Parts: sequence; structure tokens; C-alpha cells
Amino acid sequence: MNTPLTGICSYTQILLGQRGERDPEYPILKKIEQQAFRAAAIASSLLNFSRQREGDYQPLDIADMVGETLELFEPHLRGRRINLERRLDGTLPRVNGNRGRLQQVLMNLLLNAVDAMPQGGALTVAAGSGSGRVLIEVADTGVGIPSEHLERIYDPFFTTKPRGRGTGLGLSVSYGIVKEHAGTLTAESTPGEGSRFVVSLPVAGGAVRRVSA
Ligand SMILES: Nc1ncnc2c1ncn2[C@@H]1O[C@H](COP(=O)(O)OP(=O)(O)O)[C@@H](O)[C@H]1O
Ligand SMILES: [Mg+2]
Repeated sequence: MNTPLTGICSYTQILLGQRGERDPEYPILKKIEQQAFRAAAIASSLLNFSRQREGDYQPLDIADMVGETLELFEPHLRGRRINLERRLDGTLPRVNGNRGRLQQVLMNLLLNAVDAMPQGGALTVAAGSGSGRVLIEVADTGVGIPSEHLERIYDPFFTTKPRGRGTGLGLSVSYGIVKEHAGTLTAESTPGEGSRFVVSLPVAGGAVRRVSA
């Protein structure tokens, strides 16, 4: 990670440990800690932009990648009254991609879906294929996105979350990663009902070839 910021985080944590919650300066130190973490998150997202091209691309089983990401993610759902439904097609054609980067995209979409459902709801994650594409879908029954925001959600630093919570970088980074994979990232939403994000990736090896008899 980012060494100077890691330093700020850990020295602040040392002070927090020494002071204890009753200390009048405790809340200030806590703010420094939060903002340093946030700065570190922003820095690492920006670094991702520039590192993207270096990543190695391999033929991937998307259902497998999605399954593994959900395993990492499920503990985050504990105590949240969110019902996770998975619909993963087990026989997907392979996609040429960077597994870690695509996992990052899915994780961003999942975290946003959770943020959109503070009272709980249904989270659907699906993977399927058709017309030479593999589709990953993340749908929630959350607050939804007003139509005037739909065009801006991919802008770097666009966030509707309270200070210190959102960085506004999740979707812009995800958009960049998907684009690097020659894919598309689209969203549709009905305010008050929920949102649906779809990642569409080309099947490895280009267009599906038909063998004539
Ligand atoms: N599933 C969703 N439901 C409702 N709003 C969403 C959803 N995903 C993204 N958004 C909106 O898009 C904004 C940008 O998302 P993102 O780039 O991930 O940044 P952040 O999560 O840090 O705010 C969010 O602040 C929110 O307003
Ligand atoms: Mg986000």
C-alpha cells in the first residue's frame, strides 16, 4: 500500500490506544484515522487506473470467479437482513480477463448494493451467456438511483454517501476495468424499487464460430 498514509494510520492508532475513549482529543484522533484510511482508499484506486494494463489476462471461468467473490463477500451480509440469491450458469464460455480486477468490479457492485439497502432487501447475483457475451448481473431492491444521477455515477468522486463513507471511485474504477476487458458496464434503476448493474464481457476467442455441416 501507500507507505506515508500507512504511517499516519498506524501512528494515529498508537495515540488512540494510549488515550482511551474518554480523552477529549479521542474524537479528533478518530477523525484523522478515518480520513487517512479514506485517503489511502482513494490513492489505491487511482493507482489501479495506471496499473490496469499490466495485469495478465487469462481464460476465466466467470461462474467460478463470481462464486469465490461471493464467498469473500458473504460475511459482510451478516446481521443485515439481506437475502442473497445466486443464479450462476455452470457452463459458461470462458472470458479472457484479469481475475483479480474483475473480482474488484464485482465487489464494488456488491458493496454498493448493500449500501443501497440499509433496511435489508434482496440481492441477486447472476451469471449467464448469450450472443458471444458473458453477463454478470447484480440487482438490489434498494433505494434506487434518480434518473438525473444515472449519467454521473461513473464520474470519479461522484458520491451521494456521507463524508468519510463514500469515495465516489468504486464505479469509475469498475468502469475502467470493464472497458479494459472490451466489455460494458450498464445500470438501470427505479427509485424506490432498486437497481440492476450488468457487466457484459466478450467470450474468449472473439465471435462464436459456426461449423457448417
Ligand atoms: N446499487 C446502487 N443503488 C443506489 N445507488 C447506487 C448504487 N450503486 C451506486 N450508486 C450511486 O452511485 C454513487 C457512486 O458509486 P461509487 O462510485 O461506488 O462510489 P461510492 O460507493 O463511494 O459512493 C453512489 O454514491 C450512489 O449514489
Ligand atoms: Mg461504491
